[in-house]
Amino acid sequence: MPNPIDCRDGLAALPPVLLEHLRQADEVLVLTGAGVSAESGIATFREALNGLWARFDPAQLATAEAFVEDPVRVWSWYEWRRAQVLAAQPNPAHRALADWGRQHGRLRLVTQNVDDLHERAGSREVIHLHGSLHAPRCFACARPLAAPALPESAEQLVAPPLCPACGGLARPGVVWFGEALPAEALASAWALAERCDLCLVVGTSGLVQPAASLPGVARQQGATVVRIDPQPAADFKGDWQLLGAAGMILPALLERL
Ligand code: APR
Repeated sequence: MPNPIDCRDGLAALPPVLLEHLRQADEVLVLTGAGVSAESGIATFREALNGLWARFDPAQLATAEAFVEDPVRVWSWYEWRRAQVLAAQPNPAHRALADWGRQHGRLRLVTQNVDDLHERAGSREVIHLHGSLHAPRCFACARPLAAPALPESAEQLVAPPLCPACGGLARPGVVWFGEALPAEALASAWALAERCDLCLVVGTSGLVQPAASLPGVARQQGATVVRIDPQPAADFKGDWQLLGAAGMILPALLERL
């Protein structure tokens, strides 16, 4: 198993045996991370933030403690990200995964992303392990709240709206560092990893648990694991690693299935 396979110039080097695995797969789990939205212009989580946010470390904004300390700064950061997402379009990677899901029938998409680009590309029943930018809730009583109108400018600091029921502050509907993942989403993703025969890992550095454990669970029970990323990863040295951008590789793969 030549590992990794350089796919930056196309899939000519793809071994037929790998294509067979992809064609024969009965149950497919796809795990995506920020890299699948990179070609839509959404900065990946660990790329340097730009503009007003350049001086902040995302990990220092994505916590309940940061929100309590400065709700306006944290709320404004997520509203900036939400505005980016709403201004972006799904890219060929999102669309190829949606097409594959329609054609295959037993393909489930699990994402760490908090954008809605998979859904806007046509994917159904997407499992969001880290929540969503589009589902704010009350920080005090957890009641779901409507997303407010976006701020005029990306750099504008805005106060979070108040919960109409208890007067608490609205918080982003994302999972912050130190918070538990939504139990049902995690249980569904874990069950899929335990029974899939193909696990596709697209655009994630695999640094954050428990999402990062899913490919290992699939590998452990005998699934074929295929990682798509411009950078190789040591944890996947025994799997198939296709080096390149998801927006090029996924549509090209789908054409061959
Ligand atoms: N196609 C495929 N992969 C890409 C592309 C692309 N065009 N561009 C970048 N990548 C890869 C990077 O090489 C990297 O491995 O996407 C990955 C992005 O990694 P991170 O920025 O760490 O994002 P992610 O893995 O999704 O982070 C996981 O960590 O901080 C938390 O909650 C946050 O959901 C996030 C989680």
